[in-house]
Amino acid sequence: MQHVVVQIPCPKEGEILLKVEATSINPIDWKLQKGMMRPFLPPKFPFIPGVDVAGEIIEVGDERTDFKQGDKVIAMLNLPKSGGLAEYAVAPVTLTVPRPSELAPAEASGLPTAAVIALQALKTAGVEFDGRNISSNTLITAASGGVGHYAVQLAKLAGLHVTATCGSRNMELVKSLGADEVLDYKKPAGAKLRSPSGKKYDTVIHCATWISWGTFEANLSAEGKVIDISPSFRSMFTSLCRRVMMSKKKLVTLLLEPKVEDIKFVVELAKEGRLRTFVDSKYGLEKAEEAWAKSMSGRATGKVVVEMSKSSDPDARISDYFDVAVGTDIEDAFAAMLFPTAVASVRFFSNDNTCCIIADHEIGKAPLVGN
Ligand SMILES: NC(=O)c1ccc[n+]([C@@H]2O[C@H](COP(=O)([O-])OP(=O)(O)OC[C@H]3O[C@@H](n4cnc5c(N)ncnc54)[C@H](OP(=O)(O)O)[C@@H]3O)[C@@H](O)[C@H]2O)c1
Repeated sequence: MQHVVVQIPCPKEGEILLKVEATSINPIDWKLQKGMMRPFLPPKFPFIPGVDVAGEIIEVGDERTDFKQGDKVIAMLNLPKSGGLAEYAVAPVTLTVPRPSELAPAEASGLPTAAVIALQALKTAGVEFDGRNISSNTLITAASGGVGHYAVQLAKLAGLHVTATCGSRNMELVKSLGADEVLDYKKPAGAKLRSPSGKKYDTVIHCATWISWGTFEANLSAEGKVIDISPSFRSMFTSLCRRVMMSKKKLVTLLLEPKVEDIKFVVELAKEGRLRTFVDSKYGLEKAEEAWAKSMSGRATGKVVVEMSKSSDPDARISDYFDVAVGTDIEDAFAAMLFPTAVASVRFFSNDNTCCIIADHEIGKAPLVGN
């Protein structure tokens, strides 16, 4: 990850420019950086990661919206472009909702991707949020993570019986979110996903990494469904096989569908205090690498957040720690420094039509000067 300085982006039609207050990190951000979604995403490197933001509207590039300058909002940025790990970002109007004053930016920024995929996973399993569910048994794996901690709360709001897996250090937290039973995934019973009360699961919201179909199957009710939100080729193949065999026990792989009504739904619950964001840790933009590393470690409890207000003066960083390259835009500047796969976080540096790339000394590049 490199820190660079570029021009503030211009909102096009259907977009708004935000002064970002907080960005939460999702595993998809660093999976893109690692090239795990190539050749599809991102369209090209370098790119500015970060999809989930809370911020203040600076400019509206669309006259057909009620949003106006100064509004505080929550947005899910367009994934191919991302751009949230920056002081300024453009967001699609269609995936932007007002931020209620009851929600602080850090907590609000946790919601768009993680709470929405948790909601969509439950809905995919047939769960309704209108109080008409017959109480069913639900297992949520990695219940201490960004997605899992929302999934537990949403499942409880829907009236489900929740068994959750997490590490021993997070068992009390997960219970406090409402889980009825908590399993330590590192203990034998937890690894086998066995409910302490002997329940079979009607639904599994699988937020952890690979667990074999056999392990799930042994614990599913006759028509139990596993909703896998981290699809791999193996799980997609298993899912296909289950369908071809017309098995009653199913594995469904799921990708997030960006929907503003789902963002509004989780934001409303959070406003009412019924859906809580547990923030693992907060970092200033200059410490974005630490936030990144925390998310990549797979050890986050809840959401990892970068808060722009925590950032210090960029000039100090340049003189203290970095070599500087000046170019005309982010891609030219990166090209000049030959970092084809680098990922940038951005600081706005000046308004004289130049941008600065700030490269870590360890990379061993000589400073470039120009404009
Ligand atoms: N399909 C989609 O569109 C979509 C959208 C969002 C996220 N996702 C995917 O969903 C997955 C979860 O995302 P996330 O943001 O929740 O991740 P996360 O916050 O990084 O999850 C970390 C947490 O998971 C726990 N954990 C790890 N392995 C576990 C296991 N085997 N059993 C129980 N707990 C375990 C960790 O506990 P310890 O620290 O105690 O180990 C840690 O608290 C990721 O693979 C992500 O890419 C998919």
